[in-house]
Amino acid sequence: MSSLLRRISKSLASLIWGDEEPVLDDNQIQLIRNSWEKVEKGDLQETGLVVFKRLFEIAPYLRDRFPFGHNPESKGLRTHALGVMETVGVAVKNLDNPVILKNKLLELGQFHKPFGLTDTDYQNVGAAILWTLAAGLGEDFTPETKDAWGAAYGYIQKTMEEGSQ
Ligand code: HEM
Repeated sequence: MSSLLRRISKSLASLIWGDEEPVLDDNQIQLIRNSWEKVEKGDLQETGLVVFKRLFEIAPYLRDRFPFGHNPESKGLRTHALGVMETVGVAVKNLDNPVILKNKLLELGQFHKPFGLTDTDYQNVGAAILWTLAAGLGEDFTPETKDAWGAAYGYIQKTMEEGSQ
């Protein structure tokens, strides 16, 4: 890229991001979008239920943290499983639109404030999401793709936590 182009793209980025530093580079955004396309071809709620099944295996203490319980038949659990996946979908679509993304995540974090989530709770949800992606995507879940998803979920976590301050 020429230095003029680089300067233009830098000022465009600062217009879009304001004070925010982009969390992902273009290549990472592309890796995430490619893999999410495959996830979206399936049933998002069923995938969300796999996430929660995994979550309750790796972090059994979370089973009692949901007012609707941890039974996969529970309507509340099914709705929450879909809600989490839809949030990830919104994040994927807005990775290059941080103003919209940040506000949505701040609001969602604020909504979760009464549930008193800790870093560890969030990290466990992230681990369950990444595990489910790895299981579903197989070879396509390359180390680079995994890192990109780790950064994307890290941003979701960080911003929700900020919203619940
Ligand atoms: C251990 C972690 C979490 C707990 C204990 C938790 C708990 C809850 C509870 C109790 C509700 C309200 C459900 C209802 O009104 O019936 C809720 C709603 C919701 N949660 Fe979570 N949550 C967690 C993590 C997350 C994460 C990481 C995301 C997103 C990535 C998320 C996305 C949502 C969404 C989209 C809703 C619906 C919000 C609305 O009704 O406007 N949750 N959560």
